[in-house]
Amino acid sequence: MQLSTLLLSALGATAVYAAPAFPDLNVAAASPEGIETMSEYFTMLAQKVQQSRQMAAAPVCDLSKAVLPEAPNPLPPVSAGLTLKHVAIGRGTQNYTCDLKNATAVPKANGAVATLFNASCIVATYPDLAKMLGRVSMQFSLTQSEASKKLAPSNLIISGKHWFTNPTTPFFDLDSPTQQLGGVPCTKAADVAAPADAPVGQLGEPAVRWLKLTAVAGATGGLQEVYRVETVGGSAPATCKGMPATFEVQYATQYWFYAQ
Ligand SMILES: *[C@@H]1O[C@H](CO)[C@@H](O)[C@H](O)[C@H]1NC(C)=O
Ligand SMILES: *[C@@H]1O[C@H](CO)[C@@H](O)[C@H](O)[C@H]1NC(C)=O
Ligand SMILES: *[C@@H]1O[C@H](CO)[C@@H](O)[C@H](O)[C@H]1NC(C)=O
Repeated sequence: MQLSTLLLSALGATAVYAAPAFPDLNVAAASPEGIETMSEYFTMLAQKVQQSRQMAAAPVCDLSKAVLPEAPNPLPPVSAGLTLKHVAIGRGTQNYTCDLKNATAVPKANGAVATLFNASCIVATYPDLAKMLGRVSMQFSLTQSEASKKLAPSNLIISGKHWFTNPTTPFFDLDSPTQQLGGVPCTKAADVAAPADAPVGQLGEPAVRWLKLTAVAGATGGLQEVYRVETVGGSAPATCKGMPATFEVQYATQYWFYAQ
């Protein structure tokens, strides 16, 4: 594949050349932080496009060279014998509940729903740009990304879905029209705090913790382990004061999928 094609399809470089079909920016995008994030992203994107014109050979979309990001307090390593099969940007909501009868209650996690966008090539080729994608996608409304089937403002396409099959079982469905990688119900093996400078959500919510998840019975496609890293937003407020019985907090993240 020509590098220019890779950039156009994987990075959304069409934005640099032609009038893109831009999704509506949400309110947060008008904040100084939002505009800074966007301009940083497009500056970096433009640099990559420029570099690509000077490179003779296209970079290879080779996941074997991709390096799992580490938090200051790292997660346990990937188990021996597993290989990286897919990296997705997850964009969706963390769900929470509040016990309205209890004045001192704290929000309880109640699952999550996210659309997964294929970021394998961008992670393998330009990890620095990939790192920015979650933060940038947080500046766009969720409905637009879902309706267009692309992760705004990139052209990353949907590679799967994430939801909970019961209150404690996150599930990832990686059977998409492009590739059938299987599905994996998981349990939490470890969690660590996101880095102190991790990007916040649309309303300033701190980034949710980084996770290592391991497969439970029912996994297909050899999928064994899933890492949630580079999180953006998603945390509940510290208390239930003023919150409804159920609510959602938007988040973005990278999910790394390892299989036998
Ligand atoms: C109210 O919430 C607090 C904080 O989660 C908890 O410690 C306490 O047991 C709860 N009280 C009742 C009556 O459920
Ligand atoms: C992700 O995109 C790459 C490059 O287009 C493709 O080869 C791969 O099959 C896609 N993966 C999934 C899970 O859709
Ligand atoms: C939470 O997640 C479900 C999907 O499992 C969604 O349909 C629901 O509307 C979400 N929000 C709340 C507030 O429960």
